Amino acid sequence: MFYYGACYYPEHWTAAQVEKDIALMQKARFNVVRMGEFAWTKFEPEQGRYRFEWLDSAIKALHEAGISTVLCTPTCIPPQWVYAKHADVLQEKADGTVQHPGSRCHCCKNAPAYQMLSEGIVREMAKHYAKMEGVIGWQVDNEFGCHGTTRCFCDHCKKAFREWVRERYGSTDAVNEAWGTSFWGFDFHQWYEIPLPRTMPAGPNPGHWLDFLRFSSDSQVGFQKIQYDLLKDLCPGHFVTHNCMGCFPDIDYYRLSDYMDFPVWDNYPNQAGDPLYESYAHEITRSFKGHYWVMEERSGTTGDASAGLMGEQPEPGEIRRWAWQSSANGADGIVYFRWRACLTGAEQYWHGILDHDSKPRRRYREVRQTGKEFARLAAALEGTQVVPKVALIRSFDTLWSLERQPGAVGFSYDRHCFEMYRAVKRQGLSCDMVSMDARLDGYVTVLAPSLSLVDETVAASLAAFVRQGGTLVLTPQSGARTMSNAMWDLPRPGLLAEMVGATVEEVRPYHQGQTNEISFARGSLIAQVCAVGTWVELLECDTAEALAEYRDEAFKGKAAITRNEFGEGVVYYLGVYLSGHILESFLRDALPRPFVEGISEGLEITERTGENGRLVFVVNNTAERKSVTLPGEFEELLTGETVGPNLKVSGNGVVVVRA
Ligand code: GLA
Repeated sequence: MFYYGACYYPEHWTAAQVEKDIALMQKARFNVVRMGEFAWTKFEPEQGRYRFEWLDSAIKALHEAGISTVLCTPTCIPPQWVYAKHADVLQEKADGTVQHPGSRCHCCKNAPAYQMLSEGIVREMAKHYAKMEGVIGWQVDNEFGCHGTTRCFCDHCKKAFREWVRERYGSTDAVNEAWGTSFWGFDFHQWYEIPLPRTMPAGPNPGHWLDFLRFSSDSQVGFQKIQYDLLKDLCPGHFVTHNCMGCFPDIDYYRLSDYMDFPVWDNYPNQAGDPLYESYAHEITRSFKGHYWVMEERSGTTGDASAGLMGEQPEPGEIRRWAWQSSANGADGIVYFRWRACLTGAEQYWHGILDHDSKPRRRYREVRQTGKEFARLAAALEGTQVVPKVALIRSFDTLWSLERQPGAVGFSYDRHCFEMYRAVKRQGLSCDMVSMDARLDGYVTVLAPSLSLVDETVAASLAAFVRQGGTLVLTPQSGARTMSNAMWDLPRPGLLAEMVGATVEEVRPYHQGQTNEISFARGSLIAQVCAVGTWVELLECDTAEALAEYRDEAFKGKAAITRNEFGEGVVYYLGVYLSGHILESFLRDALPRPFVEGISEGLEITERTGENGRLVFVVNNTAERKSVTLPGEFEELLTGETVGPNLKVSGNGVVVVRA
């Protein structure tokens, strides 16, 4: 079933207003709302005294109108009585500053009182709503880690971190060994000596730092798990999820999604300046479990609660296109944020489908039109999924390591992963974004950009994939570090060297603007020359062949890019960071063939397949008309017309064909 609706806050409005809202929602073909994530104070105004009737009436009225409810556990903002009794639930920053109530996300996930009170409200809600008609699922809390709150430095975290380290290593000697504490005299002999990496004069120990980030992420995962287990136990008929934040770097969402039936994410497009960045986040979220929803889909101007500024209005057609872009990348539900702009509170400028005055205007009409379209395509979408042949390994361990130590000025691991992803998308292919320990069989090509942290298990999994006929693409900084964030005492790319068939003779980080030139000696880019910067590696071939070499006299004979046949498969190693058109052209040789070739910039093509067949989506992510050549004539599902082979797609237009 395809879900379509909005985030709704009946606690802000009168019963008469709720009735009018429901009528408008029905016209827009809504079948779901999400409610309750900030309403702990309404549910439990005094400790142990629970009030649910205010929400029950809304759930009932919505249900009677054919609209289901996703409830949220409201643990993101405890009521005021909590702080009076338990001042120690507040988070502390690295410099000791305490995060005070008044906004949200200020409580520490390791504070025992907060954990206990959270469990209490979740249990009561679960008991109350387990059998209520209309309730279909739960979102745990809201956007863990939002506003930079994943990492807390309070005394509860200090204690919990020590326990976490003890569990991982068993002895302080093992900790010393893993972190390499002999550097700068950082040895530990007692567990109570282990500190949090707080504000300090120079950079932290990389092993200590990485483990603290893992611990901070695990603290969120643990909080999710407690609620997930409780909800699954008390409400076995409901799904449980959490709203992730796309490319958000602080929480290992692979681990978090172990405690979700499917993930959801909050999509606020047009903030990164590239519509494929939204697709990147869609595909990241989908890849955790194969299915996902967008739980907050932008439907109005954004509004910065801290700066007090209003953002841009969505242009006509954009809200519809964002929704279809979500569906095209695999979303099975789209829930707009929010139904109506708030009259009060820090997000007065953050608009929803309706403005403050509730008058349905252009944005509502667009949401209604889109709702009708989704209703028309619901049967065709049923049971379909995006099933890519390409995967990209996006590792949180490597992200955390390289976020702290990028190696070269201007290098960003996430940006690099995105550039690699973008080059795949530009060929008209979708891409799963997988963890290091994911199963790789079933993929034709795996990209592992700058996969710095590699151990024997990861190396063996990559080797097995290639041996069985897969194509692997590696880029600079690969295999340099152990899982403890120490450097390997091996020639780069360390444990990957055999499958690469080459080693790194010299690493040269470049200052910003400094470049070198490489020329392609083989492959489809033969004789092309391009500038490379940021970081280059001079490669020495063993069994590999050089595809590109440096033009610099000083680096004569050193390869920049290699190709090695290994088992039944092939490994490409890029010792340089390629981007844009060159990267796209280069990757073409390493990727499977798409349904449509040569798509122009701004068009996005995806496929959803299932028992009901194969749907191909063509989404125009620009305001200008674009053309594309389809491999034949097809039935277009939104209009019922026959289209192709030459297809024109209007600005912000969407075409869905049955292939
Ligand atoms: C996030 C939150 C929402 C709201 C929106 C808009 O996605 O989950 O509660 O704050 O941003 O700011």
